[in-house]
Amino acid sequence: MNKSILIHIEPHEVEVSGQASETVLQALMGQFYGRGGRPAFYGCRRGGCGACKMKLLAGYVDHNETYSQTALSNEERSEGYILACKSYPGSDLTIRIPERDDPLARYLRTDRMQGIF
Ligand code: FES
Repeated sequence: MNKSILIHIEPHEVEVSGQASETVLQALMGQFYGRGGRPAFYGCRRGGCGACKMKLLAGYVDHNETYSQTALSNEERSEGYILACKSYPGSDLTIRIPERDDPLARYLRTDRMQGIF
């Protein structure tokens, strides 16, 4: 049976629903980036580029161990960073996307801008 999970994204107070059988990246893309030409924040989707790196603040993921050290170093891993394309949620999660790469922040800024002009 497929288990539903919730992914809470800090600091935006946005929640995404997903399935335990899909990666964190797939859950995020399905909600925000898979439709309507939304900007994407992923690259290789194979653990090679690090574009989907984010910090796991709460919860548990099953992190596939096949990925490049240039994408995610052991030090980053021990600090709680994960690659969303290599992580399957084992529980509800709270994540933070690094600010420099944060597509959700860009998306929210774009929506606000469209409201202004
Ligand atoms: S998309 Fe390249 S490491 Fe996840």
